[in-house]
Amino acid sequence: MSSGRYAALTGWGMAVPQRIVTNAELAQKVDTSDEWIRTRTGIRERRVAGPDEPTSALAAAAGQAALVRAGLSAADIDMVIVTTCTPDRPFPATACAVQARLGMAHGSAFDLVAACSGFVYGMTVASGLVRSGVSRNLLLIGADIFTHLINWNDRNTCVLFGDGAGAVVLQATDAPLGLLSANLGSWGEGEDLMVAETGGTRQPATPELLASGSQFVTMNGREIFKHAVREMCNSAQRAVEEAGLTLDDIALVVPHQANVRIIEAVARRLELPMDRFVVNLDRYGNTSAASVPIALSEAAEQGRIPDGAYVLMTAFGGGLTWGSCVVRWGGSPK
Ligand code: ACO
Repeated sequence: MSSGRYAALTGWGMAVPQRIVTNAELAQKVDTSDEWIRTRTGIRERRVAGPDEPTSALAAAAGQAALVRAGLSAADIDMVIVTTCTPDRPFPATACAVQARLGMAHGSAFDLVAACSGFVYGMTVASGLVRSGVSRNLLLIGADIFTHLINWNDRNTCVLFGDGAGAVVLQATDAPLGLLSANLGSWGEGEDLMVAETGGTRQPATPELLASGSQFVTMNGREIFKHAVREMCNSAQRAVEEAGLTLDDIALVVPHQANVRIIEAVARRLELPMDRFVVNLDRYGNTSAASVPIALSEAAEQGRIPDGAYVLMTAFGGGLTWGSCVVRWGGSPK
C-alpha cells in the first residue's frame, strides 16, 4: 500500500470470552425473565470475561485476528489505538499493554474514551492519522469488559451488557476507500444519565463507597433510549450527506448493539429495511466500544459487504456521546 489520501479497511477481527451467560441464568439471580429481556431488548445471551481475561487480552486477540485478515504481522503496524471505557488499569493506557501482547517493540499506542460511541470516534481519529501521514498501517480496536462496571443485583443494567473486542486494520492508500465522512456529537449535561460514580478523581473509592456499590453503572434507560434514536438518526443523515451520498446508496448499516428496539426505531425513521442492518446483540448483548467492530467483523465474515459497498456505522453511548461515519469497503486499490 502506498502512503495516500485515504485509509482503507484491510482487515477485521473479533474476540469474545468463552463463558456464555443466558437470560435464564440471570433470572436465577435477579427478578427478571428470559421473556422480559428478549421482548424489551432482543438479547438472549452475552459473553462474560473471566478473571484471567483483562481488556488487553480480548483486544490483542481481536487485533491479531484483524492482522491475519489483512495479511500483516505486528511488525507492519506503526500505531495501536484502543477505544475502551474499561481499561486494564486506571493508568497507563491499555493500548500499551496490547502493544506488548502483540510483541510490537516499535510504533505508538494510546487509548480513546467515548463509551459505546468509541469505535466511531476511533474510526474518525484513526483515519485522520493515516490520511495525514502520521501513521501508514494502524490497528484500531474497540474493547470493553463492561460487566466489570455492572452490579449483578441490579436488573435495570445487568441484563443488558456483555464483554468483547473487535478490531480493524487501516492502511494508507490513494484509492477512495475507507472513511468518507463522519459526524460526531456529545452532550456533557447528560453525563449523569449513565454513570459509574465512584473510582475516579471526583469521588475516589473508599471502603464505604465500594460497599454501597456506587462504582457500578446506573442508568436512566428510558431517557437514553430517546436520545439514542434521535442522535443516531440525525448524525447518520448528516454523515451520509457529507459523503455526497443518499441513504439508498448505503449497502449496510452497522449500528451500536444496545437494544433491538433502538435499531428498529432508527430503521423506521431512516425508512430503511431491517435487512440492511447488522443485528447480533441476541448473542452478545451491549459490548460497549466493541459492539460496532464485532458486528462489522461478523458481517464481513458472512460476505455481507462487497468491495466498493458503502457502509454506515452509527453509535450512541454514555457521555452522552454519539456519532456516525460512512466508509467505502475494500482493501485493494483498483
Ligand atoms: N426484568 C424485568 N423487569 C425490568 C427489568 C428486567 N431486567 N429491568 C427493568 N424492569 C422493569 C422496570 O423496573 C420497570 O418497572 P416499573 O414500571 O414497575 O417501574 C419496567 O420494567 C419498565 O421499565 P422501562 O424502563 O420503561 O423499560 P423499557 O421498555 O424502557 O426498557 C431498557 C428498559 C431495556 C433499559 C431500555 O430503556 C433501553 O434499552 N434503554 C437504552 C439503554 C442503553 O442503551 N444504554 C446503554 C447506552 S450505551 C453505553 O454507553 C454503554
